[in-house]
Amino acid sequence: MHEPRAHWSSNIGLVLAATGSAIGLGNLWKFPFITFENDGGAFVLVYLMCIAAVGLPIMMAELLIGRKTQKSVVGALKEAIGPGWGIVGLWGVLCGFILLSYYTVIAGWSLFYFARTVQWTLGGFPAGFSTGDLFDSQVSNAGLQLTLSLAFSAATVGVVYFGVQKGIERVARLFLPLLFGILVLMLVSALRMDGAGEALSFIFRPNFAELEPASVLEALGHSFFTLSLGMGAMVTYGSYIDRSQSIVKASAMIVVLDTLIALTATVIMFSVIFSVAGMREQVGASTVGMLFISLPELFFTEVPFGSVLGPLFYVLVALAALTSTISLLEVVASYVIDEHDIDRHKATILCGGAVFVFTIFAAISFSGAPFFSTLAIFDGKTGWFETADHFVSNWMLPTGGLAITLAAGWFMTREQTTAELVDGTEPAWFRYGVWRLFIRYVAPAAVGAIVVAVLFFGRDFS
Ligand code: PFF
Repeated sequence: MHEPRAHWSSNIGLVLAATGSAIGLGNLWKFPFITFENDGGAFVLVYLMCIAAVGLPIMMAELLIGRKTQKSVVGALKEAIGPGWGIVGLWGVLCGFILLSYYTVIAGWSLFYFARTVQWTLGGFPAGFSTGDLFDSQVSNAGLQLTLSLAFSAATVGVVYFGVQKGIERVARLFLPLLFGILVLMLVSALRMDGAGEALSFIFRPNFAELEPASVLEALGHSFFTLSLGMGAMVTYGSYIDRSQSIVKASAMIVVLDTLIALTATVIMFSVIFSVAGMREQVGASTVGMLFISLPELFFTEVPFGSVLGPLFYVLVALAALTSTISLLEVVASYVIDEHDIDRHKATILCGGAVFVFTIFAAISFSGAPFFSTLAIFDGKTGWFETADHFVSNWMLPTGGLAITLAAGWFMTREQTTAELVDGTEPAWFRYGVWRLFIRYVAPAAVGAIVVAVLFFGRDFS
């Protein structure tokens, strides 16, 4: 006997859960860094255009395929388009599996820095202490990395175990408002710093002379990652939407909220960094530098109310990461539940355990472990962690995204998709016609360009 499919309790439940999936390390770790690397302004504008022209239509496409079929990604694509499309679904499940396996490692770092910043809040920040050395020693400590990522994986399994409403939605309802609150507090504090003006003009004043063509593709690639698109996470979340709930408004809200949070986080970080002489150069050196090397110290030396905001910031990172990891595990677990008829509790533990085996490889890949620290398949990427991240961001998400775009735009008929989007509240051309134009032409052309650049020109966007 199959249980009836679980549903979000309301549209707000869906919006919060999906926004929770979208807001994650991509917003707090990747976006500020690539904005920095690409000289801000013009890059941010291009990113906003990619989000609107490509991200939003694909978000609607994934949610509509899920809602229409009420199935997780493999079953959904098979039913919506045809049996052969199950392969695209499996590609998504594999992508979720790999992404989750290394994402938890960085998520685990937030637990470590939370503990450390609390210690400094209580005992004071030690004079002459090097947060760079601290980072190197924590990341290369295999035992510590395994413990942190195990804790994070267990939390993820713990949420997914309880299902759609009692697990995922409940956590999103509780944590997202908290996350927004912490971010607002930090923004207020950051805007009082000397570097705030410079930060705002760096982020919002476009200078197209500095924009390189590769930056456009990087912005596009990131719009997939940040919106959790290209691997069926939103198809899966869409399958828990009741048929009476609207996809159009929900998609717009998810996309706007994710973008607002990414921009806010960037304003906060740059305000802090631009306030300190010499910090720009230090930050430019590494992706993780900003979040885990510069900021921990600056909270205690520069930021107003930093000794309180420091620990809160790492709570924010952990919450943002958790609402993303649960969506990743849900993609994998719901596939096993739906297609292999295994009950949720068993499936969650099984999938969580299987993913963790690969988390071990990622966790020890900074410790000098043979093979896992030295693996070099892609140019310039060393170790299991970097290889996995490169493969997912550059190869899996864009190819998966391209397939989903083609599926919704070219392989599903107008009749099949109209019913999901049009509800008679606005003229159909507005709700439907514009979407169809973007999903058939603009999105495949843009995503196709990334795939060509990666596959044939060896470009690197991670
Ligand atoms: N959107 C997440 C982030 O910005 O960190 C990453 C992600 C989560 C991608 C879940 C895909 C996904 F299914």
